[in-house]
Amino acid sequence: MNYPKFPESCTSLLCKFLSEDIFNQLKDKKTANNFTLAQVIKSGVENIDSGIGVYAGDKESYAVFAPLFDQIIAEYHSFTQVDVHKSNFNSAELNAPNPDPEGKYIISTRIRVGRNVADMPLGPAISNAQRNQVESAVVAAVNLLEGDLAGSYYPLLGMSKVIQAQLIRDHFLFKEGDRFLAAVGLNADWPAGRGIFHNKDKTFLVWVNEEDQMRIISMQMGGDIQTTFTRLANAVKQIEATVPFLYSQRLGYITSCPTNLGTAMRASVHIALPNLAQDMDRFKMITDQYRLQIRGLHGEHSESKGGVYDISNRRRLGITEVEAVQGMYDGVVALISAEKASANR
Ligand code: ADP
Ligand code: ARG
Repeated sequence: MNYPKFPESCTSLLCKFLSEDIFNQLKDKKTANNFTLAQVIKSGVENIDSGIGVYAGDKESYAVFAPLFDQIIAEYHSFTQVDVHKSNFNSAELNAPNPDPEGKYIISTRIRVGRNVADMPLGPAISNAQRNQVESAVVAAVNLLEGDLAGSYYPLLGMSKVIQAQLIRDHFLFKEGDRFLAAVGLNADWPAGRGIFHNKDKTFLVWVNEEDQMRIISMQMGGDIQTTFTRLANAVKQIEATVPFLYSQRLGYITSCPTNLGTAMRASVHIALPNLAQDMDRFKMITDQYRLQIRGLHGEHSESKGGVYDISNRRRLGITEVEAVQGMYDGVVALISAEKASANR
């Protein structure tokens, strides 16, 4: 493989940090699962509009290709080589009374973490048989959950297209055919091994074998961030007792995309900010100040509709779970107050 030529217009962290020197230093290296630099960068090379552009095939990828990954991690998470992952999933330490008890702004709240199974390659380097093994292990673990977490597993294989589309439209299920994931092999053997577990009310869900082997999700209508977080903390602890997670002392929970390392947590609200949306400079000033990310109504790479946005913490490594949610919460409080002020102008 030769050094890839990126067009001038490329703004991904891959183009920013893959110098010719680093490329030459890493181009012949591989991990024990035979994951190579060509595979690490394939998605970003094929998708020039990537924001990041790299994926790991296993935990070892983060060490073998560290000269590239470490720079991307430092830039995305403000996490240097001497920093160490920290965790605090104690919901009693979160201070998040509902910022919108009348339900005028916040439509729904969702908090997810990404997790992968210890001693398994990540999705980009996994075999079909291993992926099925992961599915069986995760399903066995979630089937043990009781009370309001109890539910059923619905494999994608055999799910009707109508039900699948409905679950996607209602924000419960992952989409199909993501080109960033396809490029790195994350959609291989689709839909085998993929599926979704959820409780009766669809307030607790687990995605199986999408970008990560698990996306553990707590969500509900309205702005009760505290209850959403408590449910997630409780569920994650119980699942981990049956399926040990892939973990690194320095980088926290290991995920296939470096943006998800550490807490692997994305805490979001769907929120209506129609007035603030008329003044995107002010909107972005607030989201930058609180390190929040703005996504569209159907998640990443989607558009917003009717002044409704998906607002979440951007950083996931170098902060604890409580800090990730608290930062999102504080930012949402500021956004609501700016929305009220712009409505009165
Ligand atoms: P992820 O959150 O796993 O990084 P996406 O950004 O694609 O992935 O979002 C996955 C799904 O979750 C999408 O359907 C998105 O609309 C939905 N979602 C995200 N935040 C919320 C929320 N606060 N309320 C309801 N649905 C949400
Ligand atoms: N690889 C994609 C890009 O670089 C997504 C990056 C972050 N999102 C994610 N789902 N991992 O734009």
